[in-house]
Amino acid sequence: MKKVIVTKKLPFDIEGELKNYDLVYNKSSEPLSEDELQKELTNADAIISMLSDKIDARLLENAKNLKVVANYAVGYNNIDVDYCSKKKIVVCNTPHVLTEATAELGFALMISAARRIVEADKFVRNGNFKGWEPTLFLGRGLQHKTLGIYGFGKIGQAFGNFARNFKMNIIYNSRSRKRHEENLINAQYVTFEELLEKSDFLVVTAPLNSSTKHRFTKNEFERMKNDATFINIGRGEIVKESDLVQALKDGQIAYAGLDVYEFEPSVSKKLLDMDNVILLPHIGSATVTARKEMAELCVQSVKEVLEKHNIPWNAVNKNFIVDK
Ligand code: NAP
Ligand code: GLV
Ligand code: GLV
Repeated sequence: MKKVIVTKKLPFDIEGELKNYDLVYNKSSEPLSEDELQKELTNADAIISMLSDKIDARLLENAKNLKVVANYAVGYNNIDVDYCSKKKIVVCNTPHVLTEATAELGFALMISAARRIVEADKFVRNGNFKGWEPTLFLGRGLQHKTLGIYGFGKIGQAFGNFARNFKMNIIYNSRSRKRHEENLINAQYVTFEELLEKSDFLVVTAPLNSSTKHRFTKNEFERMKNDATFINIGRGEIVKESDLVQALKDGQIAYAGLDVYEFEPSVSKKLLDMDNVILLPHIGSATVTARKEMAELCVQSVKEVLEKHNIPWNAVNKNFIVDK
C-alpha cells in the first residue's frame, strides 16, 4: 500500500477518499514536529502539506519514495521547489478554486478599512454610541478612487473586477504586462513607482519570491499618499513589517488591512494597539466551498501521480521534471 501523509485536518472526507492508502492523517490541532514529519517521510509516497509546513531539503533528505507534494494552498513559497525538481518530486498547488474567495476577503478588508467598520463596531460594543452625529466615523468612499494592484494574476484580476463595479480607477503593476486581462476590466499598467504614488488603495496580491521579498519598505511607504490604505493578502514577507508599523505611526500612510504577516503567526505587537489597522488570521481562502475544493484538488493530484503516473495540470514544476 502506498503511504500518504496529510499534515492537518481538512474539511473533507480524507479517510474515505484515501482509503486505499496507508494514511498518516494528523487530526490533532498540534502540527507534526519536524522530527516526526521527517520520520514519516522516510517511506511516504505523497504528502498533502500546509503553507505552514516548511518543506525543504533537510526535511526531504531521506524521503526516498516521495513522488508528490500537494500543497493545500496556491502559494508554494514554503516548498523548496528546485530541490523537489532535482529529486523528480512533483509539486502541486491549488490554483483557481480559491481565487474569488481570496479576492472577496481582500475586498472586505478594503471596504472595512475605507469605512472604518472595525473601529465603529468596537465603539458600539463599548457602549459609546450616544446618538447620530454628522461627523461620526467619517471614512472614505471607493468611487472614483484609484486602486493599485501589485501582482496582477488570478486573485489580483478578480479583485480588480470587483473594483470596476465600485467605479474605481484601476492601475496595476506586475512582473509582466497583461494587455488582454487589463482590457477586460479597464485597468492601466503602470510602473512600480507610479503604483506607489497614485494609489489611494494599494493591494498586494503577488506571491512571495526572490523579487517580491521586502518589496515594500520605508522608501516605498514614503512615496505613497498620506491618506492611502495598504492591503496585503499576498504574503507577509513581501512587506518589511517594522517599516509598515513606522509608516502608519508617522502618518506616511493612513490605514492598513492585513491577512498575512512577515513572521507569521506572530504579529508585530505595535500593530495590536493601532486603531488604523485591521488584522486577520490568514483566512483569505477560508470559505467552506474553497477549502473543500482545495482538498479535492490535493487528493486528485496525489492520485494522478501515484496511480496514473501523470504530472497533474496544477504541478508548478512540470517543466522541470523529466522522465516521470
Ligand atoms: P497568480 O495567478 O500566479 O498571480 C500572481 C501574479 O503575481 C502573477 O501575475 C505574477 O506575474 C505576479 N508577480 C510575480 N512576481 C512578481 C513581481 N516581482 N512583481 C510583480 N508581480 C509579480 O497567483 P494567484 O492565484 O493570484 O495568487 C497570488 C498569491 O496570493 C499566492 O502566491 C499567495 O501568496 C497569495 N494568496 C494568499 C491567500 C490568503 O489566504 N491571504 C490566499 C490565496 C493566495 P506573472 O503573471 O508575470 O508571472
Ligand atoms: C494561501 O495563502 C494560499 O496561498 O493559498
Ligand atoms: C473621501 O475620501 C470620500 O470619499 O468622501
